[in-house]
Amino acid sequence: MGRIAIVSAMHEELAAVLALMPDEHKQMVAGRSFALGHLNGHEVVVVLSRIGKVAAATTATVLMERFGVAQVLFTGVAGGLASDARVGDVVVATEFLQHDMDASPLFPAYEVPLYGRARFGTDPALTAALALAAQSVLQQGVLDAARLQDFGITRPQMHQGLIVSGDRFVSNRRESQQLQQSLPDALAVEMEGAAVAQVCHDYGVPFAAMRTVSDRADDDAHADFLKFVTHVASRYSAAILARFFAARA
Ligand code: ADE
Repeated sequence: MGRIAIVSAMHEELAAVLALMPDEHKQMVAGRSFALGHLNGHEVVVVLSRIGKVAAATTATVLMERFGVAQVLFTGVAGGLASDARVGDVVVATEFLQHDMDASPLFPAYEVPLYGRARFGTDPALTAALALAAQSVLQQGVLDAARLQDFGITRPQMHQGLIVSGDRFVSNRRESQQLQQSLPDALAVEMEGAAVAQVCHDYGVPFAAMRTVSDRADDDAHADFLKFVTHVASRYSAAILARFFAARA
């Protein structure tokens, strides 16, 4: 089994994951800091994707070309689009699409030119393992009641399905409603996943991704965002990854 990449968009999230790696050492490539080491006995490389599709694609390409990774796991936060994707829920992606890709009338809307497809699926086995870890962490509960109450989280749920990505932080109701209408099966929106999925597709490397819903992609989307990432999403990510790697041992 080769090296596994763990990728996040935000520093606050990776901190919790890096804390699980006893032997971490850093290597700089393309202005990015790649942390090499072991998680539960598995060889891993942990890196920030940075924000947006181009930055994430560059990071993913370096992971392929310089680190020869065998699998890629993405963990982060997303805005909820589906009505039941509530703050505090976890979405495990089965497929990704770029919601801001539109080369029509030359190609159908959303289709990535020359790929003949709009949607890039995640790896079924890796996704099933990540979903199992997410489900068990949510059921067990990693946060105390006071913290959950702080963010208005009652009973966090796990969802599986389409996540859409674009180079926009969606922070108004009009735009999130437009996305829901055009892409009714989209569960959540973020800014990197579809780019990483496309690079993984190009290299034939299995990919899986989970996102904690941090906001409803509406006018309140920015409120408490960093606080949520630090106190909720990063805790979920670290617990879910720890569970994921323990199950593989
Ligand atoms: N990541 C977290 N929330 C988001 C939002 N509302 N739009 C885009 N990316 C996000």
